[in-house]
Amino acid sequence: MEPKVTKFDLIILGASGFTGKYVLKEALKFLNKSPLNSIAIAGRNPTKLSQTLKWASNPNPPPTITILPADTSDPSSLRSLCSQTRLILNCVGPFRLHGESVVSACVDSGCDYLDICGEPEFMERMESDYHDRAGETGSLVVSACGFDSVPAELGLLFNSLQWVGPAVPNRVEAYVSLESRKRIVGNFATYESAVLGVANAKDLQAFRRSRPRRRPRPQIPGPSPSKGQTIEHQKKIGLWAVVLPSADASVVRRTLSTLTEEPNGLPGSNESSETVQKREAFWSSVKPTHFGVKIGSKSLFGILRIIMVGICIGLFGSTGFGRWLLLKFPSLFSLGWFRKNGPSEEEVESASFKMWFVGRGFSNGSLASQENTKHDMEIVTRVTGPEVGYVATPIILVQCALILLSQRKNLPKGGVYPPGIVFGPTDLQQKLQQNGISFDVISKSTISS
Ligand SMILES: NC(=O)c1ccc[n+]([C@@H]2O[C@H](COP(=O)([O-])OP(=O)(O)OC[C@H]3O[C@@H](n4cnc5c(N)ncnc54)[C@H](OP(=O)(O)O)[C@@H]3O)[C@@H](O)[C@H]2O)c1
Repeated sequence: MEPKVTKFDLIILGASGFTGKYVLKEALKFLNKSPLNSIAIAGRNPTKLSQTLKWASNPNPPPTITILPADTSDPSSLRSLCSQTRLILNCVGPFRLHGESVVSACVDSGCDYLDICGEPEFMERMESDYHDRAGETGSLVVSACGFDSVPAELGLLFNSLQWVGPAVPNRVEAYVSLESRKRIVGNFATYESAVLGVANAKDLQAFRRSRPRRRPRPQIPGPSPSKGQTIEHQKKIGLWAVVLPSADASVVRRTLSTLTEEPNGLPGSNESSETVQKREAFWSSVKPTHFGVKIGSKSLFGILRIIMVGICIGLFGSTGFGRWLLLKFPSLFSLGWFRKNGPSEEEVESASFKMWFVGRGFSNGSLASQENTKHDMEIVTRVTGPEVGYVATPIILVQCALILLSQRKNLPKGGVYPPGIVFGPTDLQQKLQQNGISFDVISKSTISS
């Protein structure tokens, strides 16, 4: 008789990385409490993984956690991981370089997959190449379960739910503000992912054009938004702001597009009738809107610094030599925002974020179709939380994982999806609130813009 293989509830792949170690630390808080009874960690270097485990459990002695060998360039090691777990949390990036083999192994084996990717091209390619097969094998693949892009996804849904009929939103603009009592610093891999994203921006456009079927767009009442000024002064929230070319807008678009195809959301693999009702009621209250994301700063000087870094990465990122320079001297070219060895623990602890959602629309949906109509209503909501990359991201990833483990039957059998459409109707928002990420209504007002 074959020996019975006991599966780990989850495996953290890349736990020795800068983000992975914080993900492990966060996951350990929930170990041995239902639904998380077992964790394994995996990667290339067992010594580093074992040191990471000590760091993550400090001041407690490290619990007994299995360390598994895995290399994203070795598919057999990934197949072996998948045979030993229900769920992989992938923290190995840049995802465009390392992610596909992990998705492929999960999809082949029917194992579930969550990651902290913020790279639109990777996510859209995985959706295009693996969605159908993942549906067949029962593998649920959800990227962007970190600061990219759960605050944007849930924050937009939260703002949309504040518009009570006959009021309808037309556009929600999100303004991200990063704050710190010390310096705001990110680790090199995030910077590398951004540089490679800029270098390959044309490939993403070409890929989108080459897709045989355009995703449906939601019907949004009212006019399409105008482009607006390059630098905006948002007086209401006291920020100067400029467009942030992050993954958020594209991830939200995918959620809204899936919702257009499936107006009741995605059926779970084995939902109770009560859950079906709850899911359908949730999605019927969501009103799609145009959505954009800007990065904000309290001073005009702060915005000019951000623009300078953006121009630098845009210019240098388009040539091989330029990219070499950008990646060789991250601190110089990012004006100190990214470092090879990442932020110190104090820098991580002293940082936080605010993400404002300024929603504009109509107090009555009938106004939306009138000629030369103007917004007459504004609803401002806000998501706030701790440092984005190494505190908020692990909290979000771990809460998504706990929901997946405890409520698997309420989630789709399989497929490649963005987080909003999968976790929107679950209690993810409440769980995030319980763990330090808040969602608040700031104001509801009539306007005369
Ligand atoms: N969504 C968000 O908001 C968010 C937040 C934070 C980070 N991220 C993303 O997360 C990714 C990781 O960032 P990071 O700063 O943690 O990077 P990092 O410190 O460089 O860590 C990378 C991890 O991947 C492992 N790894 C590298 N190549 C591997 C391979 N071939 N096989 C197996 N493991 C391999 C490394 O293992 P070794 O120890 O063996 O080198 C390490 O554990 C980046 O893409 C970043 O953009 C996203």
